[in-house]
Amino acid sequence: MRALLILMMVLSCLSISPGCDRTSASSEGDKLKLGFIVKQPEEPWFQLEWRFAEEAGAKYGFEVIKLPAPDSSKALSAIDNLAAAGAKGFVICTPSAQSGPAIKARADKYGMKLISVDDRFIGSDGKPMDDVCYLGISAALIGEDVGKALSAEMKKRNWDVSEVGACVITFDELDTAKERTDGAVKGLTESGFPADKIFKAAQKTSDQKGSFEAASILLTQQPGVKKWLVAGMNDSAVMGAVRAMEQRGFNAETLIGIGINGTEAVADLKRDKATGVYGSMLLQARKHGYDTAEMLYLWVAKNQAPESKDVRTRGILITRDNYKQVLSEQGIPLTP
Ligand code: GLA
Repeated sequence: MRALLILMMVLSCLSISPGCDRTSASSEGDKLKLGFIVKQPEEPWFQLEWRFAEEAGAKYGFEVIKLPAPDSSKALSAIDNLAAAGAKGFVICTPSAQSGPAIKARADKYGMKLISVDDRFIGSDGKPMDDVCYLGISAALIGEDVGKALSAEMKKRNWDVSEVGACVITFDELDTAKERTDGAVKGLTESGFPADKIFKAAQKTSDQKGSFEAASILLTQQPGVKKWLVAGMNDSAVMGAVRAMEQRGFNAETLIGIGINGTEAVADLKRDKATGVYGSMLLQARKHGYDTAEMLYLWVAKNQAPESKDVRTRGILITRDNYKQVLSEQGIPLTP
């Protein structure tokens, strides 16, 4: 009888019963979970961040829970979902900088560690929340580089400045965007481009559609401009404007657009025939995705808080001439 009992216990523990399969069940269940929440999952930039975060997860053995949050209430419910799934922290590109205090409070409520990426939190006093770790771009300098590169290319083409206008697509409600486009204006004027030929057009939404609409209004207002330089907060801003200009007959001969991100713009650089998208400032998506996830992991799992609460990355100009080489050097796939 006793022998039968022992046999039954052994059999029931031989992975016939999942409850006894302690090793695999606990290693799966115990795998550290970290969240990565982004505001615009449809943008290739954020897909790259996710991809690189997953590389960090594969290296260190944690699971990345990728969640979209196109608005503030979705960001808060994403945090609730992460907590319910047992995640110990998250990286976030917030859909609204002003939701920073609410996001921080929600993370604190669950005892979750938090790193903000790309778009910096703004506190209730209107100032950046410097108590929240942030990794973003050196927005003003990168914008300046755009302005200088636009001017250099215009000079190389011997354009008569009296025929040229600079279209700067703005999205001033977002600090990093305003810093970029203010930087572009500075870069242009410091290179000698006349300030009164710089025309700002505000996009209502930070996507190609928003930029297309903003540029269309500007084109109606400025029918005298024969050639355009185009800048904006990212590739979608510049591409939306270039598409609007192409609809009115402008082309690679009469347009020089330089984006920021080095993502969507690559599709234009790859085309057989040049378009008005001359180039883009390629940002370091690997640092934004991999490094933030790694920093969070070391903080959560090894109790090593990030060394700096404010990390900034730079960009490299890619054009039709060098994009293949630079992308491969940066470990960015040509077909994301
Ligand atoms: C913002 C923009 C993105 C990208 C990142 C880079 O979030 O919306 O397109 O440029 O900044 O930090």
